[in-house]
Amino acid sequence: MSTPPLHPALGPLNFLLGTWRGQGEGGFPTIQAFEYGEEIRFWHSGKPVMAYSQKTWRSASGEPMHAESGYWRPKPDGSIEVIIAQSTGLAEVQKGTFDAENKSVVLESETVANASKVKSISRSFKVAGDHLEYTVSMATNTHPLHPHLRAVLKKV
Ligand code: HEM
Repeated sequence: MSTPPLHPALGPLNFLLGTWRGQGEGGFPTIQAFEYGEEIRFWHSGKPVMAYSQKTWRSASGEPMHAESGYWRPKPDGSIEVIIAQSTGLAEVQKGTFDAENKSVVLESETVANASKVKSISRSFKVAGDHLEYTVSMATNTHPLHPHLRAVLKKV
C-alpha cells in the first residue's frame, strides 16, 4: 500500500520522518560508560500522529540492547505530547515543544510509570542537515537529573 498524504498537523514535524542510523554513548554516575549503535524510525499513516520506534545494539558485539516505541502528537500551538513504551517495561508520557524552523523538539516527562529507579526523563532532539542528534537525561532515586545518553544518527 502506498503512503497516504501527510496530515497537515504533522507538517511542522516532517523533518523527523524517515530512518536514522548511527552511534551513541551512555553513562550515569552509578554505571560504566558504554557505546551503542542505534536505528530510529519515524513514519505516519495519514493520521495527525507520528509513529516512532527505536532499537539499539552493543557497538562491540551487535548484541541487542534497549528498544522503545511510541507516538508523537504535535499540536498547532507548538506543543507536543509523546507516549513511549520501553523494552524494560517503563512507560513515559512526555510533554514539550517543537520548533519547525530550528528542527528541534524538547521534552520532559509528565509521567514515568512502572519504573523501579527512574523519577523523571528529559529528551531533546535536533536535526541539522542529514543528521539527527539527541540527548536523554534522567533523575533516579539516587541522583538528580543527569545525562544518560547522547547519539548522532544519519538519515539512511
Ligand atoms: C542503566 C534508565 C535508555 C543502556 C540504566 C539505569 C537506569 C536506566 C535507571 C540504572 C542506573 C542505576 O543503577 O543507577 C534508562 C532510561 C532510558 C534508558 C529511562 C531511556 C529513556 C538506555 C539505552 C541504552 C541503555 C537506549 C542502550 C543503548 C544502559 C546500560 C546501563 C543502563 C548499559 C548500565 C547497565 C545496566 O544497568 O543494565 N538505565 N535507560 N539505557 N542503561 Fe539505561
